[in-house]
Amino acid sequence: MRAELAQLREAALAEIAACRTEAELEAIRVRYLGRKGSLNAILRGLGALSAAERPAIGALANEVKDAIVAALAARSEQLGAERLRRSLSEDRIDVTLPGRARPRGHLHPLRQTEEDVVDIFVSMGFHVAEGPEIEDDEHNFGALNFPPDHPARDTQDTLFVALGDDVLLRTHTSPVQIRVMRAAKPPLRVIVPGTVYRRDELDPTHSPMFHQVEGFMVDERVTFADLKGVLVQFLRRLFGPHTRVRFRPSFFPFTEPSAEVDIGCAACSPTDPDPACRVCHGNGWLEILGSGLIHPNVLRAVGYDPEKVQGFAFGMGTDRLTLLRHGFDDLRLLFETDVRFLGQFPV
Ligand code: DAH
Repeated sequence: MRAELAQLREAALAEIAACRTEAELEAIRVRYLGRKGSLNAILRGLGALSAAERPAIGALANEVKDAIVAALAARSEQLGAERLRRSLSEDRIDVTLPGRARPRGHLHPLRQTEEDVVDIFVSMGFHVAEGPEIEDDEHNFGALNFPPDHPARDTQDTLFVALGDDVLLRTHTSPVQIRVMRAAKPPLRVIVPGTVYRRDELDPTHSPMFHQVEGFMVDERVTFADLKGVLVQFLRRLFGPHTRVRFRPSFFPFTEPSAEVDIGCAACSPTDPDPACRVCHGNGWLEILGSGLIHPNVLRAVGYDPEKVQGFAFGMGTDRLTLLRHGFDDLRLLFETDVRFLGQFPV
């Protein structure tokens, strides 16, 4: 048995010394020291020995085992160090290689327009308010001075939500005027971005869902001059300091007097329009917003006294503004979520 142990030790140490990889080394360990390994095979013969011989052989077996364990550990360390050295010399990082660009997202062009519009008014002291997209007849029409069965209601192409005619998708952001004025007292300067709905087919210039920004101001002695000053300032900040602005008489039930506001076409010119202009179609002017002094009936409907306070209001289409700013003419591009298109309008 002594001879067997000595031979086992020789063989194990030789194999360990010759082994090239950490996997091979593990196989050697299992073969010699594993539960079913060679050393245990020899030790199973221990019982056949005399009581006098057993301790000495046992001690020898432990010695052999320790020697193999030590040799395994030393070789393992060597192989590990070699692996490290190899990977250090082979796996070089070329720090001069160009980096991998991470694409950076940005706001949808419609939201950019909305933010830009709101920011200009916020800088003039307006506060942002929002209201529900599902409205009732009273807020969307009644309190805004649309008489019952008045033809002006037909122009709004209302989408109704529920049975009966009372619950509807708001056709404009103007009902938020009513909600804000009923909840607060003048002086008020409020700007309202929002989504609105009308019974329209989707085509290059119409969509059943679109966006508006509404604004209004109520205080003592507000006049049309305030409306004009604020809107001209706004339009020149959005479209450039040399933008021409024109006020045209119009009609809305909730304002009196009412005006539509146009800007001079920048692609041609309001004084010398190009009949072939793709932007204004030879008109020279582009309609941007509706506005007016808040009708006394509206002020009364929210509990204000029109003898004491007056106001102006305005509303514009965010989608159309976005088309104009970026020089494209199909609204549907805004809603098709094609990143090849949307990616062209970084902030
Ligand atoms: N609510 C109108 C619409 O959607 C737009 C509008 C016009 C809003 C004049 C106003 C305003 O506040 O004064 O057609």
